[in-house]
Amino acid sequence: MSETQTNRIFQPLQFGRFKLNNRIVMAPMTRNKSPKGVPGTNVAEYYRSRAAGGVGLIITEGTYIGHPAANGYADVPAFHGEQALAGWKNVVEAVHAAGGLIIPQIWHVGAARSPGVEPDPAVPGYGPMQVENDGQLLVKAMTKADIADAINAYAEAAANAEEIGFDGVEIHGAHGYLIDQFLWEGSNQRSDEYGGTLENRSRFALEVVKAVRARVSADFPVVFRFSQWKLGDYNARIANSPEELAQLLKPLADAGVDFFHASTRRLWQPAFEGSNDTLATWTRKLTGKPVIAVGSVGLEKEFRVGHFTREESPDTAIHIDVKQLSDGIEHQLFDMVAVGRALLADPNWTNKLKEGRITDLIGFDVKALDELVV
Ligand SMILES: Cc1cc2nc3c(=O)[nH]c(=O)nc-3n(C[C@H](O)[C@H](O)[C@H](O)COP(=O)(O)O)c2cc1C
Repeated sequence: MSETQTNRIFQPLQFGRFKLNNRIVMAPMTRNKSPKGVPGTNVAEYYRSRAAGGVGLIITEGTYIGHPAANGYADVPAFHGEQALAGWKNVVEAVHAAGGLIIPQIWHVGAARSPGVEPDPAVPGYGPMQVENDGQLLVKAMTKADIADAINAYAEAAANAEEIGFDGVEIHGAHGYLIDQFLWEGSNQRSDEYGGTLENRSRFALEVVKAVRARVSADFPVVFRFSQWKLGDYNARIANSPEELAQLLKPLADAGVDFFHASTRRLWQPAFEGSNDTLATWTRKLTGKPVIAVGSVGLEKEFRVGHFTREESPDTAIHIDVKQLSDGIEHQLFDMVAVGRALLADPNWTNKLKEGRITDLIGFDVKALDELVV
C-alpha cells in the first residue's frame, strides 16, 4: 500500500476545539464488562490500547443516561452517578495519556428494556407506545413529563461528558433505541405532537439535540448517530427518499449537531434508488456537515452484525480496501470512517494500516466475538 493511497485517511481533521490525528474512528460497541454500571480499569485499558494503536477518535460503547428506564442490559456502563463518572474519568485520562481522543455514546434503550433488568428490576421499558403482555406492563407509553425527564437526562449526560474531560459527545439516535423509536413509524403511532408526520416523529430527537447543545460549550462537538435499520428489522426505513432525509436531518443540523454518524451495515451500499450515493454521502450533501461513514470496513468476510445474530452470511467475501476509503475522503463522500469489528480484533489496526503492514492485520472472526469484547 503506497503512501498516496492511504494518506487521506491520515490527514488531520478539526473536531470542534480538538484536532483528530486521522479520520479513523472506533465505532461504539457494547460490552458487558461494567458491573453495577461502573467502568473499571479493564475498560480503561481496552480503550487505551485502541488509542495507542493510533485510532483518531474513540466512540465508547453505549452508556446509559440518568433515567430509570435508560438501561436494557446487564453490566453495561452507566453515564450518571459519582462512581460511574469517576470510572469514565479514568478511561478518559488513560486514552488522553496514549494520545487519543474519546467521546461517550449516550444511550437510552427505550422500549428495548424489559422489566427485570438492572438497575431497578421493577421499572418497565419506556417508549413512544405502550406494550403489554398478559396484563403485564412491558413498556410504558411516555407522557410529556417522561419525555421531558428523558431529554433532561441526555442533556445532563452531555454536560457531564464535558465536565469530566471527554472530547465531545455522541447521541445514540440509531438502531431502534429510544430516539429511533420515536423517529420510526413502525414504533411510533402516537397521536400527539411526537407522532404522525416525520416532523412530529423528529421532535423528540430535535429536543434532545437542543437540550444537549444548550448544556455544552459551543466548540464541544456534538455527534448524532442515526440509522435506517433497526435491531429487529434490517429493512426498516425512517426516510424513504433524500427529501425525507433532508426533512429529518436539516433541523438537527440547525439545532447544533456538528457531525453526523450515518450507521449502515455496509458502507458502500446506495441509500436510495436512482443514485449510487450512500447514506453518509446523502447526509453530507443535504446537511453540509462532516459525516462519519461505517459498515464492514476491514472485514474480509461480510456477515450480519455478529453482536446481534452471530450468523455468518453465506453469500459474500467483500473486502473494502484502503484505497476506497482514501478515495471516499478525496471525493468528499464522507469525512471519517468508523471501524467496529476490525478494531475489536486488532487494537493496532490503525497503525498497521498507516505503516502499510497489511499482512500483519489480525482478521476478525465472528467466533471470537465473546473473547474480543472482553
Ligand atoms: C459487539 C458489537 C456491539 C455493538 N454495540 C453498539 C453500540 O453500543 N452502539 C451502537 O451505536 N452500535 C453498536 N454496534 C454497531 C457498531 O457500532 C458498528 O456500526 C457495526 O459493528 C458495523 O461496523 P463494522 O462492520 O466495522 O463492525 C455494535 C456492534 C458490535 C459488533
